[in-house]
Amino acid sequence: MPELNLVLLGPPGSGKGTQGERLNEDLRLPYYATGDILRAAVRDETELGRTAKGYMDAGDLVPDEVIVGVIAERIDSAEALDGFILDGFPRTTPQAEALDAKLVELGRGVTAVVLIDVGDDEVVRRLGGRRTCAANGHVFHVDFNPPKEDGVCDIDGSELIVRDDDKPEVIRKRLNTYHAKTEPLVAYYDQRSVLRRIAGESPPDDVAEEIRRTLATMRLEQDEAV
Ligand code: AP5
Repeated sequence: MPELNLVLLGPPGSGKGTQGERLNEDLRLPYYATGDILRAAVRDETELGRTAKGYMDAGDLVPDEVIVGVIAERIDSAEALDGFILDGFPRTTPQAEALDAKLVELGRGVTAVVLIDVGDDEVVRRLGGRRTCAANGHVFHVDFNPPKEDGVCDIDGSELIVRDDDKPEVIRKRLNTYHAKTEPLVAYYDQRSVLRRIAGESPPDDVAEEIRRTLATMRLEQDEAV
């Protein structure tokens, strides 16, 4: 089976984390979510976390040079030889160029970029009701995906919290940042013929099914091209 180097792209709250967890289980590939990596660094009070915290709380992106090295190291690891799933990276054109350069250095390339398409109003509704597990970042929503017991993670029993950057004023800022800095990547990857658009406003199971179908079709096309 050829390697699968997959990027999940989409606005905040589009469901990258929700679908990334499922893809991680389905595909058995390492899953690198930069938001989770940075939040863990903040929690552990590492140098990376101390640098990132102010940017994250304000809804800004951390500087490219801070995050590029974090991902380059993981992609270059033995566990990622058959491929990987990236969530939240790249988020700027310089990050996309750095990813391309790293993959070229390794004799590889991005296989597919799955864009989860969701409008701004839906983003606001979703992030307003999101609850995140304090221990491992498992994601719930008070209406769309409620936990069995209020405030408790179904998966590991830890407390569910509201993320610092899910406050209404920060949500708006993150959306503006997405449109200004990350949305240009849609054209970037479309030009490279690796972009696949998914309708992200359907229920999570339907979105997962569409992603599965899209990746399967892409594999078939690749096999036919060989
Ligand atoms: P990050 O954690 O990556 O935040 P994000 O991109 O804003 O994405 P989210 O985690 O908010 O949303 P998601 O798309 O994963 O949606 P989810 O599945 O949770 O980054 C945080 C910060 O870190 C950034 O702001 C930045 O400061 C920094 N950072 C990270 N990467 C960086 C980089 N590369 N460069 C620079 N800085 C970086 O779903 C959301 C909610 O909706 C949940 O409650 C879920 O249950 C619900 N939901 C999901 N799917 C559906 C559905 N289909 N229908 C209904 N509800 C749904």
